[in-house]
Amino acid sequence: MSDTAARPVPPPFAVVSGAQVQRSLQGREREVVDLVEAAYRWHGEGDSVNPPSYFLRFPDRPTARIIALPASLGGKIRVDGLKWISSFPDNVAAGIPRASAVLILNDHDTGYPFACLESSIISATRTAASAALAAERLSVGRPRPRRVGFVGTGLIARYIHTHLTATGWEFEETGVFDLSPDSAAGFRGYLEKAGPGRITVYEDAEQLIRSSDLVVFATIAGEPHVSDVSWFEHNPVVLHVSLRDLAPEILLASTNLVDDVEHCLKANTSPHLAEQLTGSRDFLAGTLADVMAGRVTVPAGRPVVFSPFGLGVLDLAVGKYVYDEVTRSGDLHVIDDFFHELKRYGA
Ligand SMILES: NC(=O)c1ccc[n+]([C@@H]2O[C@H](COP(=O)([O-])OP(=O)(O)OC[C@H]3O[C@@H](n4cnc5c(N)ncnc54)[C@H](O)[C@@H]3O)[C@@H](O)[C@H]2O)c1
Repeated sequence: MSDTAARPVPPPFAVVSGAQVQRSLQGREREVVDLVEAAYRWHGEGDSVNPPSYFLRFPDRPTARIIALPASLGGKIRVDGLKWISSFPDNVAAGIPRASAVLILNDHDTGYPFACLESSIISATRTAASAALAAERLSVGRPRPRRVGFVGTGLIARYIHTHLTATGWEFEETGVFDLSPDSAAGFRGYLEKAGPGRITVYEDAEQLIRSSDLVVFATIAGEPHVSDVSWFEHNPVVLHVSLRDLAPEILLASTNLVDDVEHCLKANTSPHLAEQLTGSRDFLAGTLADVMAGRVTVPAGRPVVFSPFGLGVLDLAVGKYVYDEVTRSGDLHVIDDFFHELKRYGA
């Protein structure tokens, strides 16, 4: 082997657009849920590095934030990277989505970044795939939910609904509640096109929760707005994707699963508030990976609440899947000469 061949070569740098991401993921919901399941398993087995997310906040724009999620995933994927995702809630009133994001993938052997992908779609997809996986796993041992209800009906709610129905869920009724009538109407319009089943727009969260055996929270609430334990007395499966909707009392009356304990008990999430209130983590049953591995069983006689903080390793898994798909299709847009100073002492 020549000297040059033995030396690692930086991989070419590519940019993947949102249109390419969407084409790669459309209709692949089952595959993506399976991939997310594998990523949770690798993470649960310690085959990952997923440090705390870093929150950049602004004194002059208090509702906005940009979060950095660095991560490294092993398993079959073997990739490192960073998701950099903005949340600017005022965007919605201006007619553009709240969240925008890029994902950088770094080469396992050289550390070189080799792709920058539009990542709001990847992020929404991995969140929705994780929710669909949790719905499946947490419903085992109880009557399969036939009435789903969405509290907060933005982009994430739409992606979750799409991933639920594409992975075999059929609902007699879909409940909708949003503080914004426009959002509720927009989501209703999406549901009418999405398929059969009764659609009910509720005036308040209470009636929606009482009428749903699968409840999805996808709001942008900064602090709990649901605190009455009796609303959950029918023991629903609750996907608490927006993390801060439920008062600690609700969690204390439920079986609680998270994606990662250290991640989730931070940043004033509802599980974090429950820990502060009780001074312990005893209210947590474990992680979704524990349920998948049979280490934790979920009793049917209590509500079950899944609060996923959102792990960077999931973005890596889905991002690498997209990169491989775009490469396979021959559409990878490589930026020539992106890395230019490659000779240590000049050319
Ligand atoms: N856990 C994760 O992995 C993860 C990943 C991505 C997004 N998220 C979270 O999902 C949430 C939704 O994201 P999105 O992009 O759909 O946001 P979005 O802004 O598009 O939609 C949020 C909707 O919630 C509504 N809302 C706000 N407060 C409400 C309340 N108290 N009751 C009912 N409705 C309320 C708003 O009117 C809006 O229509 C965000 O909080 C986001 O941080 C979580």
